[in-house]
Amino acid sequence: MSDPKKLFIRTYGCQMNVYDSERMAEALGADGYEQTDSPDDADMILLNTCHIREKAAEKVYSELGRYKGLKADKPDLKIGVAGCVAQAEGEEIMRRQPMVDLVVGPQTYHRLPSMMEQVNQGEKALDTDFPEEDKFEHLPKRPLPQRNPTAFLTVQEGCDKFCAFCVVPYTRGVEVSRPVERILREANELVERGVREITLLGQNVNGYHGEGPDGDWSLAKLIWALNDVDGLERIRFTTSHPNDMDDALIEAHGECEKLMPYLHLPVQSGSDFILKRMNRSHTADSYLRLIERIRAARPDILISGDFIVGFPEESDADFQATMDLIREVKYGQAFSFKYSTRPGTPAAERAQVEDAVASQRLYQLQALITEQQRAVQDAMVGQEVGVLFEKPGRLDGQMVGKSDHLHAVYVQAPDVQKGDLRRVRITESGPNSLGGQLID
Ligand code: 5AD
Ligand code: SF4
Repeated sequence: MSDPKKLFIRTYGCQMNVYDSERMAEALGADGYEQTDSPDDADMILLNTCHIREKAAEKVYSELGRYKGLKADKPDLKIGVAGCVAQAEGEEIMRRQPMVDLVVGPQTYHRLPSMMEQVNQGEKALDTDFPEEDKFEHLPKRPLPQRNPTAFLTVQEGCDKFCAFCVVPYTRGVEVSRPVERILREANELVERGVREITLLGQNVNGYHGEGPDGDWSLAKLIWALNDVDGLERIRFTTSHPNDMDDALIEAHGECEKLMPYLHLPVQSGSDFILKRMNRSHTADSYLRLIERIRAARPDILISGDFIVGFPEESDADFQATMDLIREVKYGQAFSFKYSTRPGTPAAERAQVEDAVASQRLYQLQALITEQQRAVQDAMVGQEVGVLFEKPGRLDGQMVGKSDHLHAVYVQAPDVQKGDLRRVRITESGPNSLGGQLID
């Protein structure tokens, strides 16, 4: 038998892309490819790209530039571009970088094996359709065993919200929810392969409305069904829109034992004027009231968010309104970005904020978030939490896992195995992680 061919995948952007990369590796695995961590010994390099901010897209071209030498030394090396940049700029990529053999969008990667046949015959392959068929039904089964005790599971793709800054509705298309039965089947397969924590993914995951045995199911109903899967210990979901946080989902946060106390709920801005210009269809106040209701259901829930500073027309007062909202919410985690123009989106046409002003705002916002994040972490000291262990730490006998609140926790635990879920008392809070001791 010949040696397996080596596949190197570089993943940019969101967790959705991490999931897609795993599934692409599985699809190419059926074609004889095995993953490698180094581009230097790869027979195929695949960049799974992100288009959400300009910098994310530019990275793809500089990364491709770096592989020119490799391709010159090894003419048989295949180079592919997948993901949202592929979707948005497929032909442009082929033109700018003739060494690219294959371009595949997020909705067509189940066709990779046949595209590879074309590539192996020396042709170029490009497929950025939005096909009728369900790609998930055409992908190979999840392999045995999974490498980690945690896994992502895509339940919904696309977005109909059309926030004025965002390319997602254009690159990932309209909202589509996968049917309940297929999700439960995939979840059971993952659990049989050793997975104990599943994160349900969707660009607008709490807008999930998949076909169930008795009409459409909401995300809350799906979570309750997963709660009954034996061997599955933890459920998470991301990313949510404030307007789709329905009562049942809030209640599930209070009552569903496997649903973890962590919620990523982007607000983007605390100014009603900016929220309106962003087409967010919620206000700062409606968001704050929503957070209050969620905390009433689950008092220890950790709230995480996304923020954009320097959105077109943002004044100092608008920015201060965002800072006020952050002070009120007290985030345990947040992702913040300077506004980046995306051609084709409504905000791209508007009066832009000066870059130096946006940078200064980002700096201030991140300092406040870091302070809050640290305070939330420090408050964990002395508490008892569940930790799902994922890998050895740097020190001898040390293991690292994630707490219920998604904090990384380091524990001296030589007898603990990857995949063990144990009770831990938190004893220390560091800059980006916690330290603790096993209780049982
Ligand atoms: N500029 C800056 N940040 C953006 N995001 C989305 N589009 C843009 C853009 N054009 C951010 C939002 C979103 C996160 C995934 O990325 O905060 O929630
Ligand atoms: Fe983009 Fe807004 Fe949809 Fe999120 S909700 S994916 S920010 S359009």
